[in-house]
This record gives sequence, structure tokens and C-alpha cells, in this order.
Amino acid sequence: MIPWTLLGTAQIPNNGGELKFSQRGDEFSIRLSGIRGELMNSRVFNSEKVLSELGCAHIANKDNAQVLVGGLGMGYTLAAALKALNSASQVTVAELIPEVVTWNEGPLGNCAKNPLKDPRTKVHIGDVKQLLVCNTPTFDAILLDVDNGPEGLTHSDNNWLYSVAGLEAIFNMLQANGRLAIWSAGPDYLFSVRLKNIGFKVETRIVRSRPGKGSKHTIFLAKKL
Ligand SMILES: C[S@@+](CC[C@H](N)C(=O)[O-])C[C@H]1O[C@@H](n2cnc3c(N)ncnc32)[C@H](O)[C@@H]1O
Repeated sequence: MIPWTLLGTAQIPNNGGELKFSQRGDEFSIRLSGIRGELMNSRVFNSEKVLSELGCAHIANKDNAQVLVGGLGMGYTLAAALKALNSASQVTVAELIPEVVTWNEGPLGNCAKNPLKDPRTKVHIGDVKQLLVCNTPTFDAILLDVDNGPEGLTHSDNNWLYSVAGLEAIFNMLQANGRLAIWSAGPDYLFSVRLKNIGFKVETRIVRSRPGKGSKHTIFLAKKL
């Protein structure tokens, strides 16, 4: 069996721990210290892809569609958003950890077919929250996969995104008919209620981590009507 080779490490802000980036043949892995199992593996990305397909379906033919993706990870959500949109669209991807962007600029980028090189991609290095607080309807879709789900596990500052204040800010940043799609490791009934109370029409979808098999993840699809 090919052994894993450590390619790099990165610190999560505010003592959030350390990310370890490794390679084994053509497979890549990102682990978080203190958490059993992987945060991301380059061979497991079905629900990350479906997140974009659900969140962008309503703007497939829209010129100048504006989409925000938080965060970059291994680039699968970004790549699927670009695939779902036409050539006159823009996708801003916010990534908290600069090293994750650097890793995607290297061989890891090949896994999702180098979405950072697409001229429609704009990279924001920093917290996605920074792009959600100007109260101006800007985005047709906001796709969030920054954590384990509505409870910020990897970065406690992420709890704001799923709070009433955060969701109200997101609602105000969406254009009319905009969509918020959120990836979660599992269901959360109270979170669906919170989204509805903000004014979203909410659907939840169960999506496998690999096509037709693997873990069952939840995608919250919230529509601003
Ligand atoms: C689970 S990964 C995303 C996987 C991604 N959907 C994909 O297709 O590979 C989560 C990413 O979000 C980043 N992140 C976490 N909190 C963030 C925040 N507040 N703003 C921007 N990026 C964040 C992490 O550094 C990590 O790269």
C-alpha cells in the first residue's frame, strides 16, 4: 500500500487547530487535528457537487449570475457551480485559510479540474462572513460548506453564519428569487425552522457522499421568494 506523505500544514485562526494536507498516489486528504477521520478526501465529493447543482439550478441560463461559495476546500463545490452557470457569470469563493488556496493552486487543483483557473472565479482569502454584511442584494446563490453543518465544529466563529443574525444578513445579501444552499453532515429540524422564520421557503435533501453509496449528508435549500 502506498503510504501517505504530508505535504503541508496550516493553522485555523483563533486556536481552531491544525490542518494536515497529505497525498497518497493521486489521492489527497485534509485532516483536522483532534478530530477522528478526514475533513476532506479528494475521492469523496458527491454531496459537495450536488450542493452547487441544487443551489444554482434556477440561474443556469442567467447572464451575469453572481454566486458566492464559502469555502474552497478541494474545489468541488466551486467547480460544480462554474459548470452549472453560463460564461457570463461570476463565482466568488471565500476561503479562510490561505494555505488551502495555495494547495489548490498545486497538484490538488487537478482533482476538481482547476476551478481557480476559470476566468469567472474570484478568490477572497478571508472569512466568508466579511462578504455577507453589507445589506445589499448581490448574489443569486450563496453556497455554504464551511463546516460540519449548522453547528460550527471546525471553527466556532462559524456559528454566526447559522444564527438568526447571520441568516438575516444572508437573506439581505440575496437577490429576489435567490437561493441559499447549506451542506450539513446530518439533519437539523430546528435549523430548518430558523430558516423558515427568517422568511425562506425551505427544502432539505439527503445526498450520499458518493454516487448511490456512502454517508448520508443533508443539504438545506432555502429560497428567497
Ligand atoms: C469542508 S471544506 C469545503 C469542501 C468544499 N465544498 C469542496 O468542494 O471541496 C470547508 C472549507 O471551508 C473553509 N472555511 C471554514 N470556515 C470558513 C469561513 N468562515 N470562511 C471561509 N472559509 C471557511 C475551510 O478552511 C475549508 O477549506
